[in-house]
Amino acid sequence: MASIKQNREFLKANLWEAWDSLQLDQCDGFPHPNAQKTYPKEASLIDLIPEETLTIGQMPVIEAIRRRKSQRSYTGGSISIEELSYLLWATQGVHRVYRGAEIVIRTVPSAGARHPFETYLFANHVEDLKTGLYRDLGIEHKLYPLETNVDLVDDVQEGTNGQYVQDSTVVFVWTVIPYRTEWRYGLLAHKMIAQDSGHVCQNLYLACESIGLGICAIGV
Ligand SMILES: Cc1cc2nc3c(=O)[nH]c(=O)nc-3n(C[C@H](O)[C@H](O)[C@H](O)COP(=O)(O)O)c2cc1C
Repeated sequence: MASIKQNREFLKANLWEAWDSLQLDQCDGFPHPNAQKTYPKEASLIDLIPEETLTIGQMPVIEAIRRRKSQRSYTGGSISIEELSYLLWATQGVHRVYRGAEIVIRTVPSAGARHPFETYLFANHVEDLKTGLYRDLGIEHKLYPLETNVDLVDDVQEGTNGQYVQDSTVVFVWTVIPYRTEWRYGLLAHKMIAQDSGHVCQNLYLACESIGLGICAIGV
């Protein structure tokens, strides 16, 4: 197992000194990784509400920043599809797609526009959405249902080391496809992935605050 001192190396900027000598798949002509995981063609997708038609989230940014804080107890109430659509758009919404979906520009920044994340949702109390597990398709702005009508709260709680998810309306889980960033940055990718994730989560905090919802990050 690596020591604390060894792990600190990951934080240092001097890794960039090795940039010219790194083997990078992008430079070696390897194909561009997909910007989004695929899903079965026959899947029944669930429409989300397009950002242009959202009527919520009008709070000034300065106010949302001022109010932002972590909340660890929840009412057990529901949110609407419009609210969920807004939160998904704020965290991974897609502004533009290039080169047949190889490159996407989203509502959050990402080193080299690599956007290495996939968003999974454990929906507990979302109006018009069956309880269960979904994957967000940011490019289509739709949800891909993975497991519905199942109670996953115990599994989610176990996965978060027993934290307070039982009364939550929805749990966002970001997974990473490291190769999207490694393809361009090789060994330098992993710090950038960690930096990228903070931007996504902060947008979720601010978007929640702007519509009066409580949120807490959980690092696992
Ligand atoms: C990466 C990250 C991981 C976190 N993990 C947890 C966690 O597992 N459990 C928890 O209760 N809070 C967690 N938090 C919330 C922090 O404890 C919280 O941001 C901090 O105490 C400051 O409080 P504030 O967010 O209200 O300003 C996490 C925050 C971040 C950014």
